[in-house]
Amino acid sequence: MNIRLAPSILAADFSALGTAIAAVERGGADLIHIDVMDGHFVPNITVGPPVVRSLHRVATVPLDVHLMIAEPDRFVEAFVEAGARMLSVHVEVLPHLQRTLSFIRSLGVAAGAVLNPSTPAEVLAEVVGDVDFVLVMTVNPGSGGQTFLASTESKIRRVRALLDEAGNAAPVEVDGGIDLQTVRRVVSAGAEILVAGSAVFGAGDPEIAARELKAVAVAHAAAIGHGATRTASTADPR
Ligand code: DX5
Ligand code: ZN
Repeated sequence: MNIRLAPSILAADFSALGTAIAAVERGGADLIHIDVMDGHFVPNITVGPPVVRSLHRVATVPLDVHLMIAEPDRFVEAFVEAGARMLSVHVEVLPHLQRTLSFIRSLGVAAGAVLNPSTPAEVLAEVVGDVDFVLVMTVNPGSGGQTFLASTESKIRRVRALLDEAGNAAPVEVDGGIDLQTVRRVVSAGAEILVAGSAVFGAGDPEIAARELKAVAVAHAAAIGHGATRTASTADPR
């Protein structure tokens, strides 16, 4: 397992995002997770390509951009040009999912498919070779600070099994309600990329919170016998 922490800036102070990113990078963040919401697919609005472009200038780790928007195909290129190195799209809005994933890959970035809590793992069956990572939502998307949905643990396992059966070492990412209490459960289920918003930026010191959360995840992966770091992952920035 190659445990990576991706703090979500959704829970940070938007007037000081550069400072927030620097803090979690000192705390060992491997990626910066940016939540893009359009007020259609989810009942919330956040940021677009200009903000990603600015954050790309200050971040030293890759940007992981999660598109919670109704028409992702219209904006894929703009987010890639703005500096996304991982770009994930929700399967629920994409009738031509394979085309979208291969288009993202063709632009030289890692392509991720995202599943809402009510979307079954099996929806990935025909695109399992087209993903560089799979993002399993562990809350319903739209806001931070929600409670982890325990029902998603078995789905993480099913997604991991689907990928393994296809010979795809792409990591499973989890997003929503990940904290010191839930992180061991998702790592046990096979998650390797851990998004955390309020557990990191809602803490008194985000640098310390990031370091602690990652340390717990890495130690747990080692304890359950999945401590070995993969030599190469297709979700590494290409
Ligand atoms: C939810 C977003 C998450 C959110 C997670 O729609 O996709 O990335 O920031 O926040 P926490 O970690 O607070 O649940
Ligand atoms: Zn997210």
